[in-house]
Amino acid sequence: MIFEQKTIFITGTDTGVGKSIFTAMLALFYLVGGKKIAISKPVQTGSPKDTDFLTSLTGNKIPVFNTYSFSLGAAPSLSSKIENEIIEKNKIIADIRKLENEFDVVIVEGIGGIAVPITDSVSPCNDTYLVADLIKDLNYPIVIVARPTLGTINHTVLTMEFAKQKNLNVLGFVISGYDEKINDPVIKTAPDIISEITGLKCLMKIPVIKKVNYESILAVANGSFSSNAPNCLANV
Ligand SMILES: Nc1ncnc2c1ncn2[C@@H]1O[C@H](COP(=O)(O)OP(=O)(O)O)[C@@H](O)[C@H]1O
Ligand SMILES: [Mg+2]
Repeated sequence: MIFEQKTIFITGTDTGVGKSIFTAMLALFYLVGGKKIAISKPVQTGSPKDTDFLTSLTGNKIPVFNTYSFSLGAAPSLSSKIENEIIEKNKIIADIRKLENEFDVVIVEGIGGIAVPITDSVSPCNDTYLVADLIKDLNYPIVIVARPTLGTINHTVLTMEFAKQKNLNVLGFVISGYDEKINDPVIKTAPDIISEITGLKCLMKIPVIKKVNYESILAVANGSFSSNAPNCLANV
């Protein structure tokens, strides 16, 4: 069960698919359940900053930690090079390990998808280190957040295949921005087709949230995660 996890890494099929939204929702669920919870966004690039977004989405009630933050919105390997900072993977891992000792639950939000380079052969440390390698080093189970629209089958299946190749433990996938009432066969059928191809469970279909803020995220978390709700993550 996802709610028995002490550590979870939230990744996605791309940037901008709803990782932060799902991270905040899951974190609030744990908080409401009385857990001492921390969120880590270990490396972030661009603005607005995900750490600020996550702090605001969780109503300032959950600490959000970060190791590296860059202005240029790009893969960390490139942003760090341009901004003359060396990313040390051991520092990222050590910072997250510290949280494991202090908190009941640690949720890490990834950077883009799992093949994003944190460092690469042209970055200062001359080592190719992908988000998937960080997940492996942390030994965290992952949840893949995906968009609901055309293209999502391909992206999600490929992400799953890469996760398998890297020997990652995938708990399942989440579709963010799923309109239950929409009469589009592409959107309606995608979650089941992804499950059929990958053998992965669709853990949750996050509805389209009109105004994304703390109140609406909390409302969806409370509503969706109650044990009698449809698409209930707690039942997975
Ligand atoms: N369920 C949703 N309802 C409404 N908007 C969404 C939803 N999921 C994603 N979005 C939109 O996509 C944007 C990116 O989401 P975010 O969680 O920041 O993605 P990521 O962390 O993967 O980059 C949000 O600011 C929002 O506009
Ligand atoms: Mg994000």
